[in-house]
Amino acid sequence: MKILVLDGVQEAGVKALHRSGWQVDIVTDVWTEEELSSAIGRYDALIIRSATKVTSRVIESADRLKVIGRAGVGVDNIDLEAATRRGIVVVNAPDGNTIAAAEHSLALMLALARNIPRADYGLKNGNWERKKLVGVELRQKTLGILGLGRIGSAVARRAQAFDMVCIGYDPHITPERAKHMGVEAVSLQELLSRSDFVTIHMPLTEQTRHLLDADAIASMKKGIRIINVARGGIVCEDALAAALKENHVAGAALDVFEEEPLGESPLLGCPNVVLTPHLGASTEEAQLHVAMDVADAIASLLNGGLPNNAVNMVGIAPDVMKTLEPFLNLGEKLGTFVAQVGGGINSLQITYSGALLDLETKVVTTSILKGMLANIVDDHVNLVNADYLAKGRGIRLETVHKGNGGDYHNRIAVRASTSGGVLHVAGSVFQPDALRIVEIDGYRVDVLPMGHILVVSHKDKPGMVGQVGMLLGQAGVNIASMQVGRKNPGGSAVMVLGIDAEAPNDVLSAICDIPGIKGTNQVTFD
Ligand code: NAD
Ligand code: MLT
Repeated sequence: MKILVLDGVQEAGVKALHRSGWQVDIVTDVWTEEELSSAIGRYDALIIRSATKVTSRVIESADRLKVIGRAGVGVDNIDLEAATRRGIVVVNAPDGNTIAAAEHSLALMLALARNIPRADYGLKNGNWERKKLVGVELRQKTLGILGLGRIGSAVARRAQAFDMVCIGYDPHITPERAKHMGVEAVSLQELLSRSDFVTIHMPLTEQTRHLLDADAIASMKKGIRIINVARGGIVCEDALAAALKENHVAGAALDVFEEEPLGESPLLGCPNVVLTPHLGASTEEAQLHVAMDVADAIASLLNGGLPNNAVNMVGIAPDVMKTLEPFLNLGEKLGTFVAQVGGGINSLQITYSGALLDLETKVVTTSILKGMLANIVDDHVNLVNADYLAKGRGIRLETVHKGNGGDYHNRIAVRASTSGGVLHVAGSVFQPDALRIVEIDGYRVDVLPMGHILVVSHKDKPGMVGQVGMLLGQAGVNIASMQVGRKNPGGSAVMVLGIDAEAPNDVLSAICDIPGIKGTNQVTFD
């Protein structure tokens, strides 16, 4: 395996990858899109921080790339859709720099409240400016926290030590959870109008871009101080500079900018701003932790596991993965069956029963789609892009959790609506390495989903098995296993044969010509 490490990701953190015997190329220069595009085709994994932009053009050239590791939280420098489409897993390291970013936010808040950078600069330039640089206390001030995730909640805890009153806006957090953090959950408007300080800890998304624009800033209290250690672009820099010049905003401390590195900017002309060059995560501890976290995730993925901090696929902890693995295998087999037996699939209804009621089955559903699509589309299908590809083909999906599984400890049933009608197949995991198809179109069977199987629908009458067996035997196709499922004697039945080689088409046609045979379907499992 070859791994490319860019953006100064800490070498000590990624040494576990060297130990695995993989080639790790650490590049210290910042590469252009063109340089990265021409090199990326040689690599299986890429590790970056925020400087490198992994664009769709880079991803198009990433012929063998399996994983992009972001040593940090924000993945806004990666074209996630393009990566997902190509089946490339994107993992991040969301926990390692939380404390560093929270402490940096507090450092900026204090620096702003007590004019520390200006005082330092003045003194070093011979100015003893005691009267000019009178600050404000944090005690009893209202801190408005935008985004109550990892960093927002860590900031709240630390701000409470300064006796600040914390209010927060986060549409994805319940008021009870906020209360548990010691934060009063309020609307955005209330937060803007009540806060003395506002600190930003949300991602940059279409919803949050320019959330603090000229109107939002105008609705804030006069004398507000704003801290942004999240992402540039959440605050409109032109509007902020104007409000700082008019003294509506008393001060701003920014670690992140709309364009990085920060070039020409109206903010540079404002005396009451404190600026740092995206240093939120820049502590020795945080950089070691994020590099180690991302290296672990990449090692697990390249060794065939599923990381639990993937951004574009369901994350699964290793112990949960051990339990789910047989169900993922069964799901893939059921998907394969559906694709090879039913043509033109419009929708799937997947029912999980028995022991599966207690498990997180989302990734099992993805595995069914993976098994199905691998038989239908040309793209390389995996657990990253299967949902995306199914959606793109307009396949409707419904999952149901119900029932005790009947005679089975666990049961996955797939009902596919296809252009040829409705198809049912169900399976069960007997032991971790003993998977079975237990039902086909309402017939009870016990089929090992391996190699080649031939599913023959027929009338239940004497001689059917013998005639099919004879045709296969004449063609040199050995039968390894055989069973018949029927609902009533003399009614319809299904015969499922495990065969050692694929049955040729002319043999299948000959089987179909036997009186009483209604149809055949051959399924090949990898
Ligand atoms: P997180 O995912 O734990 O928390 C983000 C929170 O924002 C979530 O609770 C989410 O519900 C909330 N949110 C999403 N959309 C929102 C909206 N429209 N309005 C209000 N809240 C919204 O992430 P985190 O680890 O706390 O990181 C927060 C931000 O800080 C990210 O943008 C990350 O990239 C950035 N960050 C910057 C640095 C730095 O060096 N400056 C370091 C680490 C993280
Ligand atoms: C992050 O999102 O983790 C930060 O911006 C820090 C970094 O880029 O390293």
